[in-house]
Amino acid sequence: MPVPIDSAVPAATERAVIEPPPYPASHARFGRHAIPARAGIGLRQPHIDQVLLEAPDVGWLEIHSENYLAPGGPRLRALELVRRDYPLSCHGVGLSLGSAEGLDRDHLARLKALFDRIEPGLISEHVSWSVAEGVYLNDLLPLPYTEEALAILCRNIDHAQSVFGRQMLIENPSSYVAFAHSEMPEWEFMAEAARRTGCALLLDVNNIHVSAHNHAFDADAYVAALPLDRVEEVHVAGHFVRTFLDVRGEARTILIDDHGAQVDQAVWDLFTRVLARLGPVPTLMEWDTNVPDLPVLLAEAAIADRLLARQAAVPARPVPGVPDVPVPDVQEVMR
Ligand SMILES: [Fe+2]
Repeated sequence: MPVPIDSAVPAATERAVIEPPPYPASHARFGRHAIPARAGIGLRQPHIDQVLLEAPDVGWLEIHSENYLAPGGPRLRALELVRRDYPLSCHGVGLSLGSAEGLDRDHLARLKALFDRIEPGLISEHVSWSVAEGVYLNDLLPLPYTEEALAILCRNIDHAQSVFGRQMLIENPSSYVAFAHSEMPEWEFMAEAARRTGCALLLDVNNIHVSAHNHAFDADAYVAALPLDRVEEVHVAGHFVRTFLDVRGEARTILIDDHGAQVDQAVWDLFTRVLARLGPVPTLMEWDTNVPDLPVLLAEAAIADRLLARQAAVPARPVPGVPDVPVPDVQEVMR
């Protein structure tokens, strides 16, 4: 049975034939808090005191919004102290933009209160779902890439952006299975959501690499098919390689996006090719499981920073097509 959608939220298909909503780009409205085109790190609980005490040289920090939804308390107070010294980005993990039943209004209100309080340079969420009939599933689950799912996603993005009063970024997922009834490739789904809603894109390069391996598509073709002028942030992260026997008893490998290791060489290579198309863009080093000591995380961010600095020296080519600008030598940069 179809789940009824809140009728107060305008249908995305109606918005599409008018024009995308004119939400201000994050950098335009929140200039003094803008995220620089440098490497940032995810701010995780074990590192907060050390960041406050040592003020490491890192371009910006990203939090998981849902860790800071309480209206007060020591955790939020610590975040406000961090906020004095670093640009912050808020990355959501619980909004469930793909839910057919619409968005949780209390959750939206609490996110809005957080954004008003700390004025992040960017806000983002995932193209996924995690809530059904009030049950929260602790994962970012994939959507079928159908026109019906796209309309639901766009309606929810419209709703969120209208509540927040600003543009948000949507992140491409990593996935391990695909829906047989999908009607379009993931990149087309992402691009169309951005076109219809006016949202920006968060390009997770590790997710592209993981999904490209798992579903046997060309990662560079994925990147080339996206509207790269809408990309305002990039993620890089580590992943896990697992070998298993398939139903025919043949060994296969699957890549699992666990954010629990150093960035794989193939992901740095893809990141470098993405930069050649995009030019320098805020880039987050994500590390969420087996969180290492802060210097390890900073060292990974420093690699991204060096690649960004190299790319800053050459003109960007932010349109699909074969890159015609020099691509930095990753091996040289990592030495
Ligand atoms: Fe990510």
